[in-house]
Amino acid sequence: MEIQKEFDLTVVPTEGEIDAPLSPRKNLCLSVVESDIKNETSFQKLDMILTQYLETLSKRKKYHIGYPTNMHYEHHATLAPLLQFHLNNFGDPFAQHPTDFHSKDFEVAVLDWFAQLWEIEKDEYWGYITSGGTEGNLHGLLVGRELLPSGILYASKDSHYSIFKAARMYRMELQTINTLVNGEIDYEDLQSKLLVNKNKPAIININIGTTFKGAIDDLDFVIQTLENCGYSNDNYYIHCDAALCGLILPFIKHAKKITFKKPIGSISISGHKFLGCPMPCGIQITRKTYVSTHSKIEYINSTDATISGSRNGFTPIFLWYCLSKKGHARLQQDSITCIENARYLKDRLLEAGISVMLNEFSITVIFERSCDHKFIHRWNLCYLRGMAHVVVMPGITRETIDSFFKDLMQERKRWFQDGKTQPPCLADEFGSQNCMCSHNKMHN
Ligand SMILES: Cc1ncc(COP(=O)(O)O)c(C=O)c1O
Repeated sequence: MEIQKEFDLTVVPTEGEIDAPLSPRKNLCLSVVESDIKNETSFQKLDMILTQYLETLSKRKKYHIGYPTNMHYEHHATLAPLLQFHLNNFGDPFAQHPTDFHSKDFEVAVLDWFAQLWEIEKDEYWGYITSGGTEGNLHGLLVGRELLPSGILYASKDSHYSIFKAARMYRMELQTINTLVNGEIDYEDLQSKLLVNKNKPAIININIGTTFKGAIDDLDFVIQTLENCGYSNDNYYIHCDAALCGLILPFIKHAKKITFKKPIGSISISGHKFLGCPMPCGIQITRKTYVSTHSKIEYINSTDATISGSRNGFTPIFLWYCLSKKGHARLQQDSITCIENARYLKDRLLEAGISVMLNEFSITVIFERSCDHKFIHRWNLCYLRGMAHVVVMPGITRETIDSFFKDLMQERKRWFQDGKTQPPCLADEFGSQNCMCSHNKMHN
């Protein structure tokens, strides 16, 4: 058999390339046949590739401010030895597992922790650790769909794409609701659409932190709206997509509560976002009575209640470890610090005359989109239309914020130096009070 070793070492960006614009993906060809693996130099090359990759990631970490991932944790030294096993939590977390290689005890402990946080009794909830917020949304809406098969899905246009994916997958009738300027659901539009469709049940997605603007829908007001429109309790289902802010709001004194004491059907959050986990994961909790209809599968000795079959057995342990170490006190401290740091960034941008918006209790600072691809890449910024955002996660210090701000100011001088290019008008996106463009300032 031909021995082919094609390790293209240039694929890993070197230090000089860090500032380079996003390059097309390159091929880390892995056609290494068995005999080649035994070859000493091949091993060295593998090590070299991995070492370079690790170095690059370590250097780039402090520039990761545009996407909501918390990478500041110290799990790896303690938990790395677990990687010698395959841990698979397929099936229901509460069912007996047919093998020893699972972590369902950790999974149930994590679920119990969240059940307590969201105020639902142990014997009244059902849930599982998902592959992320997306799977949680898909599950929550599936539960809603199964309970109310003729229900219409109502979701604001700023909802995460997984919500619209659920509508397509489950062939649900969808009503997209407008948003207010800050990204919250438009309650009047919701009300008028609920009234028009009163003959059908309502399945509503509530955002506890929208993806782009970090807006938090008012759950109490939505419930009130449903009641005002004449929907009875058994004629609606509310799923709360709390991917990012689900672990912030409970620790903020004046924030409205997300709780199963209110008539909601499910809550989903991402585990790798605010809490932090090296692998994507999430937590999905619903009412136990809602999931009893799923069929039992003999092969896995379990009911078929999860979306995926094989499930990551490491994430429950990482979450369990992280929650145990942090506890409520540290999570509260992280929430407060991040909100304060987000306000700090917002104030700095505002003082510099840059259009900016920050929702209450949010850590997502939205501002004008940069003209420069290199700058966007350097700071891993996420953008939409004329906007970009920074999500001020745990571990993003004021020092990082200051160096981002300094860099932005320097770049802006360059972008706008000719006087012909002007900062974009963001009055429609942010409201005129938050837009600093010259046109808007002249007219207000
Ligand atoms: C509001 C919202 N919901 C769901 C998701 C999906 O979460 P995940 O990436 O964990 O699948 C995101 C991700 O950014 C999000 O912002």
